[in-house]
Amino acid sequence: MKLALLGCGTVGSEVVRLMRMREEELAARVGEPVEIAGIAVRRAGRDRSHLPVDRSLFTTDAFGLIKREDVDIVVEVAGGIEPARSWITTALGEGKSVVTANKALLAEDMPAMAAAAKAGGADLYYEAAAAAAIPLMRPLRESLHGDTIKRVLGIVNGTTNYICTRMTQTGTGFAEALAEATELGYAEADPTADVDGYDAAAKAALIASLAFHTHVDLSEVYREGVTGVTPADIASAAAEGRVVKPLCIATREEDGVSVRVHPAMIPATHPLANVNGAYNAVFVEAESAGRLMFYGAGAGGTETASAVLGDIVAVARNKRGGITAFPPEAAYSDVPVKPIGEARTRYHVSLDVVDEPGVLARVAATFAHHGVSLATVHQSGRGDDAQLVVVTHIAADRQLSDTVEELSQLALVHQVTSVMRVEGE
Ligand SMILES: NC(=O)c1ccc[n+]([C@@H]2O[C@H](COP(=O)([O-])OP(=O)(O)OC[C@H]3O[C@@H](n4cnc5c(N)ncnc54)[C@H](OP(=O)(O)O)[C@@H]3O)[C@@H](O)[C@H]2O)c1
Repeated sequence: MKLALLGCGTVGSEVVRLMRMREEELAARVGEPVEIAGIAVRRAGRDRSHLPVDRSLFTTDAFGLIKREDVDIVVEVAGGIEPARSWITTALGEGKSVVTANKALLAEDMPAMAAAAKAGGADLYYEAAAAAAIPLMRPLRESLHGDTIKRVLGIVNGTTNYICTRMTQTGTGFAEALAEATELGYAEADPTADVDGYDAAAKAALIASLAFHTHVDLSEVYREGVTGVTPADIASAAAEGRVVKPLCIATREEDGVSVRVHPAMIPATHPLANVNGAYNAVFVEAESAGRLMFYGAGAGGTETASAVLGDIVAVARNKRGGITAFPPEAAYSDVPVKPIGEARTRYHVSLDVVDEPGVLARVAATFAHHGVSLATVHQSGRGDDAQLVVVTHIAADRQLSDTVEELSQLALVHQVTSVMRVEGE
């Protein structure tokens, strides 16, 4: 069995190293040796002498490599939308199974990729795309296929989890925590994809599509980054026995699914509350299986390569058996994805208010006017520093945003200083 490796950077070079190191085990697990037929890269002249492969395997002609007759499997770990999309559709079109870690592409174009896999009679595996080393795609696609998943709550971005963890542990601000994450290599030089939630949104789209057997497009995922999280939010959460985490939340409701990515407060006793640093975890609530938690490294060359190797073994076995394993996602049902205004959860709202009699009643009446009932209200400070912290019962996002708009216009309210959703209760 021969494979074409497209990309040999952080993940690809570890795929090469692990395939060499585990050559015999892989052969035993597949039933025959799996060899690297060639490795496509962008920069032909880059020094790759540290890798345990012959230099002659490297090429800049990815299409030529994919189309070689002796290539059975294509492993795409280059990233980006193009040429990765064309490589994958070409491979699938030729009936060659594909393993990819490319969340950006899959989240943007899954129906076309799934249709190409179906048309080509080939497998498309992507365990590494959503949470790197953490086995999640396969459990959702296989182990839980007899169940109904009601909700998925996940920490799927290590950079932002590191930032929130440090803000919680040290009381530092967002900028300092980001600088620390960058220095330690947990954040990219351009951290936008992480801190603005794009990376997590792509993963949320993949997870929700598998969990709910429908296509959730990246554009349908509501996204808010962590850049607005303040030390005051962290302290306010702690005062109420909660922690702030960067969450991906996918919920099945009677009339559709809701998929969103944003920072939220969760109880300090929730299993996700103790997922700290750059670690990731995904908490799944299924009708019969109950609550399940998947935890581990959500990034890293070796960790991601482990998931890629698992997929290589799976598709190689399928090839040998003359089968493709999964029903194509393109054939899934078409459940509507609800807009954020209809998402239902609880909210933690902080307000700076004037300190005079009747403020509390006026604020409570404003929430009530929009049908939002209050679970707790705390008042602190005096004079210009008076603060109210309100935690609501479950309400729709639109009800809450209408409430906040009206509160902002009250003469008694200096400012609505923060609004954060409360999850996992
Ligand atoms: N890194 C992680 O922790 C992680 C975790 C989960 C998923 N992933 C996903 O894994 C994929 C790869 O990530 P990475 O971190 O390994 O990226 P990377 O270090 O930037 O490596 C990219 C590789 O692809 C090659 N490449 C890029 N464009 C190419 C082109 N047009 N033609 C031929 N080769 C091209 C590069 O060639 P040169 O070497 O010549 O530049 C390089 O070898 C991405 O989809 C990423 O989202 C990564």
